[in-house]
Amino acid sequence: MERILVIGGARALGAAVARRAVNDGYEVVIGARDPAAAEGPAAEIDATALRIDLQDETTIAAAARQLADGVDHIVTTGSAPHDVRAVALDHDKLLTAFTAKVIGPLLVAKHFAPLLRPNGSVVLFSGVVGWRPGPGSLVKGVTNGAVEYVARHLAADLAPVRVNAISPGVVDSGAWDRLGDGKAGLLSRSAAGTLVGRYGESDDVVDAVMWLLRAGFVSGETIHLEGGARHKFS
Ligand SMILES: NC(=O)c1ccc[n+]([C@@H]2O[C@H](COP(=O)([O-])OP(=O)(O)OC[C@H]3O[C@@H](n4cnc5c(N)ncnc54)[C@H](OP(=O)(O)O)[C@@H]3O)[C@@H](O)[C@H]2O)c1
Repeated sequence: MERILVIGGARALGAAVARRAVNDGYEVVIGARDPAAAEGPAAEIDATALRIDLQDETTIAAAARQLADGVDHIVTTGSAPHDVRAVALDHDKLLTAFTAKVIGPLLVAKHFAPLLRPNGSVVLFSGVVGWRPGPGSLVKGVTNGAVEYVARHLAADLAPVRVNAISPGVVDSGAWDRLGDGKAGLLSRSAAGTLVGRYGESDDVVDAVMWLLRAGFVSGETIHLEGGARHKFS
């Protein structure tokens, strides 16, 4: 049975990936910064949980020691948005945002490279904002754009292990529930900004992640799952 580590697998897109992976016959380990909160969701789907905080390298190293008998795939969904204009940038929040998307996954590669099996893969998470600049999305845009380069260069570094990134548009993953009544407006504006006229569903993303795990001739790529939003100008 192949083992997959899903960092951020306790909720939203990470949880959807973890659930599908269990159904598809993988041994799933959920990496979460709060393992106590992850234990419930993990037990529900017959997965296990361990502590990984992308902001804390010691937890990444400890997780690698716990999984020393090997890992086939790693999916990392972590993000730490800092949605402000340039004049309001906060150094620590900027660093936290880069660590969630770029530095943390690179340190995961550092500690897990010796454990990843040659047919294995890493799937990173970028986002459409990387290609759609706008006021207030400066940090999200730059960090998501950087993920494309992490995928490309890490793929060369870890070869033959494959490294790819998924770049979703707005997806109703559960993460937007925090907007309350504002969620419906965000989703409809996002749908209008695509070529296909709808917002994304978690299954759109999960289908692509599961395909990438098996796509043995795909490495260093960023797969755009945003209904053509980058191509719509209006
Ligand atoms: N949903 C969308 O519309 C959308 C659009 C474009 C891009 N994306 C990208 O897709 C990815 C997943 O998004 P999502 O919709 O599932 O919601 P999300 O709220 O962005 O999910 C982030 C996940 O990362 C985890 N995480 C955050 N900081 C972490 C840390 N320091 N260590 C370990 N885990 C950490 C969170 O776990 P906790 O439970 O601990 O917070 C959560 O599971 C993100 O990278 C996001 O930027 C999503």
